[in-house]
Amino acid sequence: MSERRVALVTGAARGIGAETACLLAQQGLRVVALDSCAGDERGRSGVDYALASRDDLRTTRERLGDRGISVEADVRDAAAMEAASAAALDRWGRLDVAVAAAAVIAGGRPLWEEPSLDTLLEVDVVGVWNTATAVVPAMLAGPDPSGCRFVAVASTAGTRGLFHLAAYNAAKHAVIGLVRGLAADLVGTGVTASAVSPGATDTAMLEATARLYGVPRDDLSVSRLQRGPLDPREIAATIAFACSREGRVLNGSVVSADGGAAGGAAG
Ligand SMILES: NC(=O)c1ccc[n+]([C@@H]2O[C@H](COP(=O)([O-])OP(=O)(O)OC[C@H]3O[C@@H](n4cnc5c(N)ncnc54)[C@H](O)[C@@H]3O)[C@@H](O)[C@H]2O)c1
Repeated sequence: MSERRVALVTGAARGIGAETACLLAQQGLRVVALDSCAGDERGRSGVDYALASRDDLRTTRERLGDRGISVEADVRDAAAMEAASAAALDRWGRLDVAVAAAAVIAGGRPLWEEPSLDTLLEVDVVGVWNTATAVVPAMLAGPDPSGCRFVAVASTAGTRGLFHLAAYNAAKHAVIGLVRGLAADLVGTGVTASAVSPGATDTAMLEATARLYGVPRDDLSVSRLQRGPLDPREIAATIAFACSREGRVLNGSVVSADGGAAGGAAG
């Protein structure tokens, strides 16, 4: 059955966000694909690897066909996130689902040698906060709050201390706290909030992480049970369940999508 719900996906130009946007569109949702497209201007991203480009976002937009629009915006910019939420309402009159996938990674040194926590807190935590504050009022005021889902993409780093990634660990732990607090505030409204925590997944961020560690990408496999990284389409399928009407059972939950690494199945 074709779904009439409308979704906003951040970090949608590539990787897990792009695959999630496209899968939701395949499932019949209308999708606003949002990205900062800072790929060609590293000074704008605050990290030393290339983020997605305008061409990447255009590719996602083309994959969405007539089920999607794209918006260039930085999740750190609360006003721009309000405008993106308004774009969904202008186009389709409702906003039911938000997936906060935009994030950056930095590290590769012990905490006391890291230059700053600021960029990761601003993008990975305040960005999720800005996404929630922009979309939740529209969900609560919309025609079907019980079909509304807020899903943040956290990480294994949200529940564990990954080596030489102290700022990323701190940011992703904060994302999980944010989602739990939001879920508590939403009890009784029908709208729900949850987090999905991927393990090592085959995207540009994993390449950047391997460079931080100075190791080949495949050394970041999640466990001996899961050789090589996960496929971003597998993570997208997990997120899509969290976004579904049935995903309401996950309110306040953190779903590990890591091939067994965090669940004691490290092999
Ligand atoms: N790849 C992994 O191994 C892995 C593991 C655990 C968690 N994650 C999480 O999955 C999510 C998606 O990451 P990915 O692996 O697809 O990485 P990616 O770098 O391919 O995608 C991240 C996207 O976010 C966008 N983005 C970055 N900063 C932004 C900003 N300020 N405003 C708007 N857009 C911005 C980038 O342009 C890019 O398109 C992230 O939250 C990441 O922390 C990834």
